[in-house]
Amino acid sequence: MNDPTSMDKAFWAVIDDYEVRAKREEALWSTLSNEEASRRRDEMLLPVGRATGTVLNLLVKAGEARRILEVGSSYGYSTTWLAEAARAVGGKVTSLEIREEKTRYARAQLARAGLAEYVEFVIGDALASLKALPGPFDLVLIDLWKDLYLPVFGLLYPKLAAGAIVVADNMLQPESARVHAQAYRERVRVAPDMTSVLLSIGNGIEVSRYR
Ligand SMILES: C[S@@+](CC[C@H](N)C(=O)[O-])C[C@H]1O[C@@H](n2cnc3c(N)ncnc32)[C@H](O)[C@@H]1O
Repeated sequence: MNDPTSMDKAFWAVIDDYEVRAKREEALWSTLSNEEASRRRDEMLLPVGRATGTVLNLLVKAGEARRILEVGSSYGYSTTWLAEAARAVGGKVTSLEIREEKTRYARAQLARAGLAEYVEFVIGDALASLKALPGPFDLVLIDLWKDLYLPVFGLLYPKLAAGAIVVADNMLQPESARVHAQAYRERVRVAPDMTSVLLSIGNGIEVSRYR
């Protein structure tokens, strides 16, 4: 049986498997042309990585953030980190993803980790899903395709709880995301009542707090 107060073996077994797959995909990714990489990107996990996963997990636990939103679940790597923390604080993750086959894989991994009950997946365009979700949210991870960070932020900003944390991935890597990352950082920094900092962790994360 899972020990709800610590990261158990089932959690680590799933994280380890994801990371083995991610390593294999990184090796393949580095051999692909830009055109091939963009054509095949839906085959890849494109995970936030262990450092950012750990930070997300710690932020949820430290802030007892119970209403967690993930925008871009992919195959469920970051979802697993968030779900483990959700279990620890009595919270729940709502995770948005447009590709159903990725969600199917994520659900199976979460079940293996004993964390399925802490996540609700919403399949469809995140912009439409966000409009329909009432909020408020205590912690949000933004990690979908980078041209959507601005409209996503616009929709979720009015739904942030006091003290909410927003983490946006890919602020430094890949280089192809730089223009969108820069635009996101400028936008979040002029939003009233947001305090924001860029951290050189993983692919680079912008961590912002509301009020
Ligand atoms: C970088 S990956 C997310 C990685 C994931 N957070 C992790 O760490 O494992 C981005 C994901 O956003 C999804 N996505 C892109 N555009 C979307 C949209 N409009 N609505 C919902 N999901 C979208 C993609 O299908 C992809 O799976």
